[in-house]
Amino acid sequence: MNIHVPSTNHGLHDPKVKAALERLHRAARGDALVFLRGLPDALAAKARGKSLFDGLEPHMKKAFIQISHAAGEAIYNTARAINAKRIVEFGTSFGVSTIYLACAVRDNGGGKVVGSELEPTKVVQARQNIASAGLETFVDIREGNAMKTLTDVEAPIDLVLLDGWKDLYIPLLKLLTPKLRRGSVVFADNIHTFRKTLRPYVAYLRDPQNGFVTTTLSTGSGLEYSVYLGAEN
Ligand SMILES: C[S@@+](CC[C@H](N)C(=O)[O-])C[C@H]1O[C@@H](n2cnc3c(N)ncnc32)[C@H](O)[C@@H]1O
Repeated sequence: MNIHVPSTNHGLHDPKVKAALERLHRAARGDALVFLRGLPDALAAKARGKSLFDGLEPHMKKAFIQISHAAGEAIYNTARAINAKRIVEFGTSFGVSTIYLACAVRDNGGGKVVGSELEPTKVVQARQNIASAGLETFVDIREGNAMKTLTDVEAPIDLVLLDGWKDLYIPLLKLLTPKLRRGSVVFADNIHTFRKTLRPYVAYLRDPQNGFVTTTLSTGSGLEYSVYLGAEN
């Protein structure tokens, strides 16, 4: 019997991409130490009536807080399935998620990932990490507040990854929705980690009036997987 083995063009097995991802996921284990050092500030913020996160935020400049490999694979696979060519990312950090996204764009025949990152030192390192994976041609990281830097992204957008600070998930979704193509996918990370904060985000997506169908995947720290079926502008 002849078995047809299709060429999968599976770039996550590309040695440069694989080596970069393995190195970065290993380095990200150091986040535990960053959080430990930030604990006194987090507790002090709580004592002042603020959230633990308010105290931790200054320490986040050094933390990867990257998506899990499982989430990266799910996002890569989806981007391949829908032939994503234009991808927008809220929260690039050191570029781990961007590598999964850019790899998919490259394997789809080319396109662009538009990333966004507040912290200038992270932008520099993200660019280096993405170059080490051989994917710099497919990435445009915009430094500054994503609510400003992502305003002029061109339509149509095929896929969005929301992974910056959680209070901006809804505003960013609203900013980008007019440019989403029908059938595009919006991923949002940390649904389980920030269950309470992100409840309104999930509720917004579950409201049929807003044009999405959605499900929360248990992948990683909870990944909202939403498909846009609303009108195209
Ligand atoms: C969870 S990390 C992103 C991790 C990254 N997606 C990955 O998987 O490697 C969140 C990042 O979003 C950035 N960020 C938060 N608010 C932002 C904003 N308004 N505009 C741009 N970046 C923002 C933070 O500086 C932080 O580096």
